[in-house]
Amino acid sequence: MNLVIFMKEQQLDALLENINYEISLLSNASAFIKQVFSDISWVGFYLCQDNQLILGPFQGKTACTLIPFNKGVCGACATNLKTYCVPDVHQFPSHIACNSATNSELVIPLIIDNSLYGVLDLDSRCFARFQPDDQEELEKLALIIIKHLTRWNLQADFSSSNWYTA
Ligand code: SME
Repeated sequence: MNLVIFMKEQQLDALLENINYEISLLSNASAFIKQVFSDISWVGFYLCQDNQLILGPFQGKTACTLIPFNKGVCGACATNLKTYCVPDVHQFPSHIACNSATNSELVIPLIIDNSLYGVLDLDSRCFARFQPDDQEELEKLALIIIKHLTRWNLQADFSSSNWYTA
């Protein structure tokens, strides 16, 4: 086991353990990821609401508020329920340029009980910033976030009736 990856998992798990409010949990999860990964210009959540993705807690510059399921890397991730690792966003046909300085992007679906809760989106100014080991690491962190989002004592702000079932 890679000790550095394991430590990030342990740290995030411990950080989220004591947070019982959904908005607070997502906010600190995005802040944690921004702190522990280098060369990340933006990290945050887009959440399923009214058959589209709405901007959730994030770290970085202001971003698009609504993303339809058929637009952008986030929309592709939401529609196909798989991680998208895009080394050059300028080559991705429907990429939404919230920030023109972004050159690569990683988007991970957050699936709870076979429905899409939302996506975890990371942007970088570097081309090909996200390598397979980063993807693996961030997918593990996404599972920890899901574990805490489904904790019995979490006070939810977003109703599960809004989650998207393909
Ligand atoms: N670039 C994304 C939109 C969200 S921003 O990166 C914050 C996309 O194409 O889905």
